[in-house]
Amino acid sequence: QTTSISNILQKFIPENTKITVHGWIRTLRHSKAKISFLDLYDGSCLKTLQIVIGENLHNYKSEILHLTSGCSVTICGKIVKSIGNKQDIELVATNVTILGWIDQPNTYPITPKKHSLEYLRNVAHLRSRTHIFGAISRIRHILFQSMHNFMHKKGLLWIPTPIITAADTEGNSKMFYLSENFNNKNISNNISTNQVNGEQFFFGKKAFLTVSGQLNLETYACALSKVYTFGPTFRAEHSDTNRHLSEFWMLEVEIAFSKLNDIIELAKAFLTNMIQIVLEQCTPDITYCSNHSQCNLFKRLENFLNNKIAYIEYTDAINLLISCNKNFKNTVFWGGDLFSEHEKYLSEEYFKSPVIIMNYPKNIKAFYMRLNDDNKTVASMDILVPGIGEIIGGSQREERLNILKERLLENNLSNKYYWWYQDLRRYGTVPHSGFGLGFERLLIYITGITNIKDAIPFPRVFKNINF
Ligand code: 4AD
Ligand code: MG
Repeated sequence: QTTSISNILQKFIPENTKITVHGWIRTLRHSKAKISFLDLYDGSCLKTLQIVIGENLHNYKSEILHLTSGCSVTICGKIVKSIGNKQDIELVATNVTILGWIDQPNTYPITPKKHSLEYLRNVAHLRSRTHIFGAISRIRHILFQSMHNFMHKKGLLWIPTPIITAADTEGNSKMFYLSENFNNKNISNNISTNQVNGEQFFFGKKAFLTVSGQLNLETYACALSKVYTFGPTFRAEHSDTNRHLSEFWMLEVEIAFSKLNDIIELAKAFLTNMIQIVLEQCTPDITYCSNHSQCNLFKRLENFLNNKIAYIEYTDAINLLISCNKNFKNTVFWGGDLFSEHEKYLSEEYFKSPVIIMNYPKNIKAFYMRLNDDNKTVASMDILVPGIGEIIGGSQREERLNILKERLLENNLSNKYYWWYQDLRRYGTVPHSGFGLGFERLLIYITGITNIKDAIPFPRVFKNINF
């Protein structure tokens, strides 16, 4: 019987059962009494399984004594109660097969001691072997699964939206263009696509990596009523910060016959549900992340569940920021965007809670947001959380054709790319709203990781792609 370490430690397997486990050695020690102890991990849980190996094994001297941290092994043995006080049960080995040695142990970049996250970014192909990346990966998995469950229970259908797109969803985003005919020779000569082809094309048409699936998603919301999409999203922003990635995952929700408040409620219910599930199902991993980041995550997450979320109108937020007598680097004025220092002040100092900012000026938000009666603001919302800033952005969509046309014009956006989007308003238009959540931003909030580069296995960021 082969099983996982998680199954063994959760005592799903009765004592004295003969079993086989596979894994990698985290730490090991050889006692003078000619017994060796290995701590084995296989990724199924945070904890390691203690393996006890006696000198009676045929390869004890020839192999076991030469094992080092990182070697991969298959162990057959029996589960017994442990006499040591660090663990309840352990595995007494009857056979140890070494699958892979560590080539020159002194060069192995992953040692059992705690490495800094900065150091681990340079060995992204091996960092999955550390406790912290194991913990983040298991939390991410539970979030992925729970997210789909939540949407399914709420009656939303999952619509895959394209990664290769022709229209810029956000209107003015920085995009990565695609090209055909790009070969290795051009890469090695460091010639940009532009120089090679004159222009960047996807089989003769302009195309780029999606910045958001929203517009495509709206076509399905305006037929199937409640839909969502989840996938990689690309932004060519020149932002080298600890909350920007060039490639990140976004959950986007789109609901027909709904208004701004409806999707605010849905977004809140979603966050609450995700946090509850992680607290229930990932307790050991959250505990580990909490210690690792020195941020009390239980307090952070329980505060989220127990405290009210603050609401503020953009206009009121501006007044508050102007009158608070803080020396912000970026000046605050009505019509200007909020910078992270302003968001920080609002959620961390003023409200000391998550905060929802609503009704931003139209000129700083995307063309598709529904114009309010004041003709100056749009029915928009951003959800900010302390320590991170914006994790969700959403809005009611402009469902009135004439106003949408004006907004496209104001933003210099051509009918050539948005004609189909207008059709949704031309044929049976309905009020509808939606939001987008940056998955890695949620993950850094939940794990206390301070840099978003550590929330995705292979970060693609401004001027950096190593793996
Ligand atoms: O605010 P954004 O740009 O909104 C949209 O793309 C809308 N189309 C969403 C919608 O209404 N369907 O992005 C949404 C979220 C942000 O709140 C943020 O959490 C995340 O995506 N995000 C990023 N995360 C990591 N790196 C980046 N460069 C990000 N840019 C946005
Ligand atoms: Mg936004």
